[in-house]
Formats: sequence, C-alpha cells, structure tokens
Amino acid sequence: MKNVVLIGFMGTGKTSVGRLLAGRLGRPFVDIDQKIERHARMTIAEMFATRGEEYFRRRERETVGRVARYRNTVIATGGGVVLDPGNMARLRTGGVIVCLTASVDTILERTGRSNARPLLDRTDRRELIARMLAERAPLYAGADYTVDTDGQTPRRTVDIIVDYLRQEGYLSG
Ligand code: S3P
Repeated sequence: MKNVVLIGFMGTGKTSVGRLLAGRLGRPFVDIDQKIERHARMTIAEMFATRGEEYFRRRERETVGRVARYRNTVIATGGGVVLDPGNMARLRTGGVIVCLTASVDTILERTGRSNARPLLDRTDRRELIARMLAERAPLYAGADYTVDTDGQTPRRTVDIIVDYLRQEGYLSG
C-alpha cells in the first residue's frame, strides 16, 4: 500500500495527526524532522543555529530520499519539504500527499507554545507567517488532498483523512 505523506505549514498538526492516523490505520509512523534530529544528535533549532539552514535542508533531502522508499507508512514532513521539487517528486512516487492547512491566527497560537521553530524565532511573527504562507501556498496546493484543521481536533482531522483514503481506494489492497 502507498504511504500517506502529510505536508503543510508549521503548526498545522502534521506530527500529532500523523501519529494518530498511523495508529488508526495500524501502520508505522515516521516523522522526518525527528529522524533528522536523532541522526544528527541535535535538535533542529540547534542545527539551524550552529550549521545554518542550508545544512538542515541537505539533511532533510537525504532523509526524504531514504523515507520515500518506504511503503505502507504514514510520513510527517517538515513544513519546508515542499521547497525542493525533488523532495516532492520522491515522496509522490510511493505516496498519496495530504496537506494540512490552518489560518495565520491558528498557526500563531499553535507555534507560540514552544521555541522549537527557528524560522519563526522573530518578533514580527504574524507578518512573517502570513508572508511565508503566501509564498508557499502554490507549493502546498500540489497535494492530492487538503484538510483545513482550523477548529478541528486531531481526531476529527484523522476521520476526514480516513474517509478520503477509503473513498479513493487507498485502504484496500
Ligand atoms: C520548517 C518546518 C519545521 C522544520 C524546520 C523548517 C519550515 O517543521 O522542518 O524548522 O521550513 O517550514 P514543522 O513543520 O514540523 O514545524
């Protein structure tokens, strides 16, 4: 069976929804950012601070290359995975791409709780989020299916994704 690949901006719930979805489907769950952190033995915030974004993007590409070969797995990506068309081409070969979206307010609220996101570690966060969302919107729009997570619990978002996967025949065979 194909992988289910979750893409979307920071704070749209990819990791929590991915973990729940994998549990619901009885499939393994892989989070690309967590894999990068474990492999490098440092957090992504540390990686950005000590090695820079380009270094992180290289690690991200390598990890996508490996994980894209998996099958039958729920994969949560980092928000910037869409910036590299090669990443998306690889993930798409064996997977259905589901994008999670949320409003600027929701993202601001959800990402405000931790400082684990170096790209948002700024004072003008609202403007920054709005600008990055607008820049990346065309890339996220390339998903096979999109779910708006505003006002939804992760459980409800999982229900919506499962309905879609079932309807499209991804869960049979
Ligand atoms: C990034 C999103 C982060 C992480 C890194 C860069 C981005 O992942 O990969 O900080 O460019 O949007 P989450 O979307 O899981 O926060």
